[in-house]
Amino acid sequence: MTGPTPGAHGLERHLTVRDLTSLGIAAVIGAGIFSTIGNAAHDGGPAVSLLFVFTAIACAFSALCYAQFAATIPVSGSAYTYAYASFGELAAWIIGWALIMEYAVGNIVVAISWSDYFTGLMDGVGLHIPIWLTMGMQSAHKHYEEVLALMQAGKPLAEATASQLTGYNAWNTAPELPGGLRLVIDLPAGLITLAITMLVYVGIKESKNASNILVGLKLVVVAVVILVGAFYIQPENWSPFAPNGIGGVLKGVSAVFFAYIGFDAISTTAEECKNPQRDLPRAMIYALIICTILYVIITLVLTGMVNYKELAVGDPLAYVFNKVGARWLGGIVAVSAVFAMASVLLVFQIGQPRIWMAMSRDGLLPPVFARVHPRFRTPSFSTIVTGLFVGIPALLLNMDLVIDLTSIGTLFAFALVCGGILIIDPYGTSDARFKVPYINGQFLVPLTLAICGGLVLTYNQEGIREFTKALGSGYEEGRHYIPMLVFFVFCLGLSWLSFRKRLSLLPTLGLLINLYLMTQLGVNNWLLFFGWLVIGLALYFNYGYKHSKLRLKHA
Ligand code: ALA
Repeated sequence: MTGPTPGAHGLERHLTVRDLTSLGIAAVIGAGIFSTIGNAAHDGGPAVSLLFVFTAIACAFSALCYAQFAATIPVSGSAYTYAYASFGELAAWIIGWALIMEYAVGNIVVAISWSDYFTGLMDGVGLHIPIWLTMGMQSAHKHYEEVLALMQAGKPLAEATASQLTGYNAWNTAPELPGGLRLVIDLPAGLITLAITMLVYVGIKESKNASNILVGLKLVVVAVVILVGAFYIQPENWSPFAPNGIGGVLKGVSAVFFAYIGFDAISTTAEECKNPQRDLPRAMIYALIICTILYVIITLVLTGMVNYKELAVGDPLAYVFNKVGARWLGGIVAVSAVFAMASVLLVFQIGQPRIWMAMSRDGLLPPVFARVHPRFRTPSFSTIVTGLFVGIPALLLNMDLVIDLTSIGTLFAFALVCGGILIIDPYGTSDARFKVPYINGQFLVPLTLAICGGLVLTYNQEGIREFTKALGSGYEEGRHYIPMLVFFVFCLGLSWLSFRKRLSLLPTLGLLINLYLMTQLGVNNWLLFFGWLVIGLALYFNYGYKHSKLRLKHA
């Protein structure tokens, strides 16, 4: 693997612990809390705030493991580099490939979400963008077909949802293309990706300054939302706390996890930090703590201000203030959402090229991916490819398609990072500047799993009934529970291994929680994810395996 020689690869070291914490917050607070939390709160009710706590614990275990790796190997590839060091080249490639889901695919979601808020804002100030320039072709066509089916069934248009009508109108008013297609594109999503890519291309210092400003702004607005929102809370909205039970709360796993993604992205700037081994671990943990506190409070404020049933909207934070009559604050929230999401885009557009750069240096991608711009000192080619990879699908795709894929890819990376610590330092004996504290898991891992199993058996009777019913009703129904069954076997295996080998408790629990969250993402997402991995493996055996520097060195 390529070494961490300071400045050897031409990047410039500008970032301090404050900049890194700020970059972490920049990457975390965005589309998740400004947008996707709406549906999660609608399904789970106020209890979604507990899901934020639970997910934060999963992220905290992973953050500790990321932090130890960042303190040990200060190279820009993040989880890719860590997997390289702990599991070897093939697993590292798989992780690098899965990380595209987190960074590039995640940014497609953020760009589309950004465009929704931006278009709404422009409408608010009287600048109306033609509707066929504000959404992806895929969404418009889907909604057009749905409304057509409604009309053919003789139902009134009033039965269509607002988004179905918007899609229908977009398709109907768009210029025609050959092949029966229509020119419906999400232009703002494409343009913001272009603008951010240009900023990332011209320098890490410029990107850092922009990120610091955006973060300051969004923290002020989040604080105002909490302080003002607190006055509108009606405690009766918190009851019932979990109206749709555990099942309803867990429906929000993907959205809530998506809201946390990002604190790990700062590890891709390891070669641009002044003191990566000291500052990266601190910054990841600071960013995670700050964001968790804010998320839990915001969720309680949101679900306290209006009834959870009203929250199935794309702009829940702006919606609640409009609803209680504080329209001025709804407007401010909408403006700040635009800035908040731009900062997420910025950090992920910084992260993806640096991971490709690390993979290229190891020979797994063509050398051009590691090219550093002689003047701007940024990975120039990789930055442009990232811009195209995010910008083009953002013009055309539907957000729902990609959000679950982002979560599954990231959970997979987190699980392997936790597993990596169990391999490189199972007993906390390394001399890294930051270490995951070692707690003997010999009895605690089996005990924790037994307690969790007991709680599920006691409090989720309905889930158990559905599970046993589905298993007895053949493959079509039962296949949805395959990930859960595999997880169950994995838990037994890891309990046994912990007992025998006294595995370190925190990475083991981190591994298990991440895998558990993955089981909640539905078998169809697993199939898509496996499809993605198969494409990645085909590329590896056709290119990376043949050009691997490690293999060539030992040949
Ligand atoms: N956590 C980031 C967001 O919510 C990805 O936008």
